[in-house]
Amino acid sequence: MPKIVIDGKEVECREGIPVLQAALEAGWDVPHYCYHPGLSVVASCRLCLMEMKLPHPQTKELGWAPKLFPSCQTPVRDGMEVRFASENVRNNARHVMEYYLLNHPLDCPVCDKAGECYLQDYNERFGNAASRMVEDKYKNPKKDIGPHTLLYSDRCVICTRCVRFTREITGTGELAVIERGSRGEIDIFPGVPLDNELQGNVVDLCPVGALLDKDFLFKQRVWMLRSAKSISPVDSGGQNIWIDYNDYGVHRIRPRFNEKANEWWISDEARFGWKYVGDERRLSQPAVREAGALEPTGWDAALVWLREKFAAAAQLDDGAAVAAVLSPMLACEEAWLLARWVRSIAPQATLAVGYVPVRGEDKTFPKGFTIRAEKCPNRRGVETVVAHFGGPSASFDEFVRAAGEGRFKAAYVTGGYPDPWIADDVAAALAKVERVVVHDLYPGPLDAHAALRLPAATWAEREGLFVNCDGLVQPFERAIPPREGVKSEGQFFYELAGEVGLFRAGKVRTMLAAEIPAFAEVFEPREVPKHAH
Ligand code: SF4
Ligand code: FES
Repeated sequence: MPKIVIDGKEVECREGIPVLQAALEAGWDVPHYCYHPGLSVVASCRLCLMEMKLPHPQTKELGWAPKLFPSCQTPVRDGMEVRFASENVRNNARHVMEYYLLNHPLDCPVCDKAGECYLQDYNERFGNAASRMVEDKYKNPKKDIGPHTLLYSDRCVICTRCVRFTREITGTGELAVIERGSRGEIDIFPGVPLDNELQGNVVDLCPVGALLDKDFLFKQRVWMLRSAKSISPVDSGGQNIWIDYNDYGVHRIRPRFNEKANEWWISDEARFGWKYVGDERRLSQPAVREAGALEPTGWDAALVWLREKFAAAAQLDDGAAVAAVLSPMLACEEAWLLARWVRSIAPQATLAVGYVPVRGEDKTFPKGFTIRAEKCPNRRGVETVVAHFGGPSASFDEFVRAAGEGRFKAAYVTGGYPDPWIADDVAAALAKVERVVVHDLYPGPLDAHAALRLPAATWAEREGLFVNCDGLVQPFERAIPPREGVKSEGQFFYELAGEVGLFRAGKVRTMLAAEIPAFAEVFEPREVPKHAH
């Protein structure tokens, strides 16, 4: 690995990266707008300039070159020496910032980007308290550029990150720069809105508040939000996300860098696919069938009911009349706890991998980002759990067929999908099972027959491991508590298994990894410092 010297300190860096990237990774907060590690380098904003030692043309002696160099466009070379902590470099940043602020509106109090805006942060470090501009500010227009996105071009610094994103990452090229100088602005082509499956990334990419997400517009100040590290549940790609939330719930989803899964981007499906967390149709109380109708009950009573009824059903054929359907929406820890409990009372119980929704085909964009057709986060993790227990197992279709043939006396069916999913024919087959427990988010056709119905929690209210379609084992954190009346699956299965206290995914993971080594190695992406993309 090459070693370079930055401001007198030796830094070891990855081969081939620009000095700017090396400095950011080593903890220098070098100002920059146009550079983004996922895009081509244009070196147009001139904020990241540095001093560099070069050999004198005649004497060949190493010394500081008189001009400044763009650190984003200079690859690291072993032994090179650069500096950012110099009067020359600071003066450059100061002058460039003055230029950027000439026409920039002073609307931070109403700007969604305030609190996470590069221009605001750099202005604090390099800006002047007063502007020397005496002319009226030139005001570029506000535009509606697509179904999800607004462009306030008076805030734009023409870094062209958004333009390069639509050319290089999505290959759709909806955005372009029109006009020049202070009149320069970003625009769409007539009649071609910004409307591709990854378009929301331009809002995160924009270093200032020029590109805005209509969904988040004026909803929250970012300093009122906390962020949980999570994995998107919308498909099997394992897209790493931040869930931004506060006491009032979830407010937005942003991409979280992961070099092995989604890099810097997420699909719009992952970005906007969280609204079901607050869906009014969600179940919020356990219910047990009494005199032909589902009547509200408590979690403790549900636990007692389950133990009794499943133990009774397990008396036949060493438990062969019992089945559990492990949804691919469950975390590995949750699937393992439920499977372990079922097999502990019914050694010959059938373990089935739950319904795996698939829509269309995988879609891969020019630089490799792929939206997966499989619309659940943890099929591979649940399959690994089922394979670990051995014995009778089934796919979801095989389970439904066997249920329709009357092979089961008791079945525990888990769901948790963002949309209602139980088709009428599945409900008809399950009507042949004497005691069906359905653990799901919404009321559905199984309600007509279910002996016990339990409300599920969404992924944002739970924690655990998901295994993506490439076998990457990734942890996700809980952002918000389950809605009132709901208990997380992890907590309920923990109690069902006779464990005492609070379910903690980390604790259960240790037990799980001791039994299934595939879950011992959990991948955590490298941390990205503030302003590092
Ligand atoms: S809209 Fe944002 S990302 Fe696009 S050029 Fe302007 S400042 Fe850069
Ligand atoms: S010129 Fe280097 S980041 Fe813009």
